[in-house]
Amino acid sequence: MFSPALLLTFVIAAVSASPAPAADPAADLLVSLKTAATQADRVNLLKDGDFKFDFINAQAGVTKGAGGRAVAANVKTFPALIGQGVAMTVGFLEACGMNTPHTHPRATEILYSVNGTLTSGTIGENGSRFVNNTLYAGEGTVFPLGSIHFQANEECKPVTFVSAFNYEDPGTLSAAQRYFGLPPDVVAASLGLSGVEEVVGLEHLIPDNIALGRAECLKRCGLTANVGEQPTTQRQPRLPGNELPVVSESASASSAWTSATASATSAKWSASASASTAY
Ligand SMILES: *[C@@H]1O[C@H](CO)[C@@H](O)[C@H](O)[C@H]1NC(C)=O
Ligand SMILES: *[C@@H]1O[C@H](CO)[C@@H](O)[C@H](O)[C@H]1NC(C)=O
Ligand SMILES: *[C@@H]1O[C@H](CO)[C@@H](O)[C@H](O)[C@H]1NC(C)=O
Repeated sequence: MFSPALLLTFVIAAVSASPAPAADPAADLLVSLKTAATQADRVNLLKDGDFKFDFINAQAGVTKGAGGRAVAANVKTFPALIGQGVAMTVGFLEACGMNTPHTHPRATEILYSVNGTLTSGTIGENGSRFVNNTLYAGEGTVFPLGSIHFQANEECKPVTFVSAFNYEDPGTLSAAQRYFGLPPDVVAASLGLSGVEEVVGLEHLIPDNIALGRAECLKRCGLTANVGEQPTTQRQPRLPGNELPVVSESASASSAWTSATASATSAKWSASASASTAY
């Protein structure tokens, strides 16, 4: 008969001697592909089916909002791209859906409208002007590396686009979500505001991409986009350092923050800057 203390000692010894947790075959494959010496070695690590990516039915790499979805084939979702230097996203924009302003930190993009009218806009680095275009079905455009750009479906029915990238891990930096994810007082200062209330009020409305697009399109197509009714799960996580001020229940329930109401309700905002779970 073992004493409980001795039994505990055995258990601890057994646990510390046991091998690492069950390996993740998908992660192991990524490591093998990344470390393969040659492309021939990579091909031998993959099955034929691994060279196919189903954009229509993909579960991984999907960015979804009230205005549609974008499906990304990149090194993570489509490991056959490792070592190939290219990636692709297919966008399924609902009526008036907008792929909201964003940049790709590591790739230039060439976008093709498959079957409808899109508007697109691009702003590059300091000194470059705004480039504005309407793309009809069968037309394409280029978004230079690092530029802020968007595409919006101007049709009252869904439109599909295809975007190719000249790097296998292009990355996406969603402009509104990431900018408003900086410390609220820094955002306020950069916007020329004296307080953080308007920053916080706007931040909690930022809709998930793909979002509902321009008011003019929605009106023309008989659609409505009520303030605060789109999902907002893509906002920047809060840590000590970029935390939002605490807000009362009644203020957080309000879905219609505007700069006009912000000052009237600023008294509801606590000066304390402890991390808030309300946002
Ligand atoms: C950024 O752009 C503005 C306007 O083009 C220019 O005046 C400013 O000097 C630029 N800032 C930097 C750091 O290049
Ligand atoms: C420029 O943008 C506006 C607003 O999106 C659009 O209505 C207009 O058609 C665009 N101009 C061109 C030349 O595409
Ligand atoms: C474009 O293609 C999509 C997917 O097949 C379809 O749902 C949509 O209705 C098409 N849009 C137009 C404007 O033809």
